[in-house]
Amino acid sequence: MKNKADSLSDPRLIAALDTSSLDAAQKLIRQLQGLVDFYKIGFELFTAFGWKAAELVRKSGGKIFLDLKLHDIPSTVSKTAAVICEHEIEMFTVHTLGGFEMMQQVCETVEKRPRGGKKRPRILGVTILTSHTQESLSKEMGIGRNLDEQVLHLAGLAKKAGLDGVVSSPQEISLLRAGFPKDFLIVTPGIRPQGSPQGDQKRTYAPKEALGAGADFIVIGRPITAAENPRKETLNILNSLQR
Ligand code: C5P
Repeated sequence: MKNKADSLSDPRLIAALDTSSLDAAQKLIRQLQGLVDFYKIGFELFTAFGWKAAELVRKSGGKIFLDLKLHDIPSTVSKTAAVICEHEIEMFTVHTLGGFEMMQQVCETVEKRPRGGKKRPRILGVTILTSHTQESLSKEMGIGRNLDEQVLHLAGLAKKAGLDGVVSSPQEISLLRAGFPKDFLIVTPGIRPQGSPQGDQKRTYAPKEALGAGADFIVIGRPITAAENPRKETLNILNSLQR
C-alpha cells in the first residue's frame, strides 16, 4: 500500500545536490526519502567526490542527472561522454554553445557505446543560463539576438544534432513547447516557490507554473537545500503542485 509521502511524490521533481560534502548529500537524500527519487549532481559535488557521489544516489535507489555542462572541442567532449556512459546515468548535460559538431559527436559516441544492460543516458543541451538577463546577454556577452530567439536558436541546433532535449529557464518553456515535438525534453532550473529568495537566478517561475507551462522536469536547489527543514519545504512544494 502507498504511504502518504509516496502519493505526494512527483517524478518531475529533481533535487539539486549542490554541496561539497558527501555527508550532507547523504543526509539530504535521507531527509527526502519517499518524496524525491531524482537527483542532480553538479560541479560542486562532482568536483569534490566524482563517481562516489553518483554511487550514493544509486545506492538510495535514486536516478541521476549529471549536470556538468560539457563545453570543449568535439573530441574532448565526446570522449568524456563515453566515460559517462560507463555509469548508470539517466541524463547529462553538454553546453549548446559548444556547437553543432560537438553535440553531434557526443550523440554518435553515446549511440555507439555498448550498453551492457544499461539504458542510454539522455543528452540535454544547456541553452542560456537562468542567471542571465537580456542585458547581460547583449551587453556582457555581445550576443545580438534577443534572449528568447537565442534560446530557440540553440535549442534548434541541439535538436538537429540529435540531442534529447534542452535545459532552459522557465520563461522560455512555452516558446520551446510550441516549436519542438512533445518528446523533446525541457528541463528547467530557476524554480522559486513563493517567498523563496531569488539568489543569483534571474528568469524564474514557481514550481507549478513551470510544469503548467510544459516543463518535463523542474530542478530545485537552494529552496530545498538551504531550507531549515528540507523535507518540510519539499512537502510544501509537492503540495503546491497538487493544488
Ligand atoms: O539553487 P537553485 O535552485 O538556483 O539551483 C539551480 C540548479 O540548476 C543549480 O545546480 C544550477 O547549477 C543549475 N542550473 C541552472 N541554470 C541552468 C542550468 C543549470 O541554474 N541553465
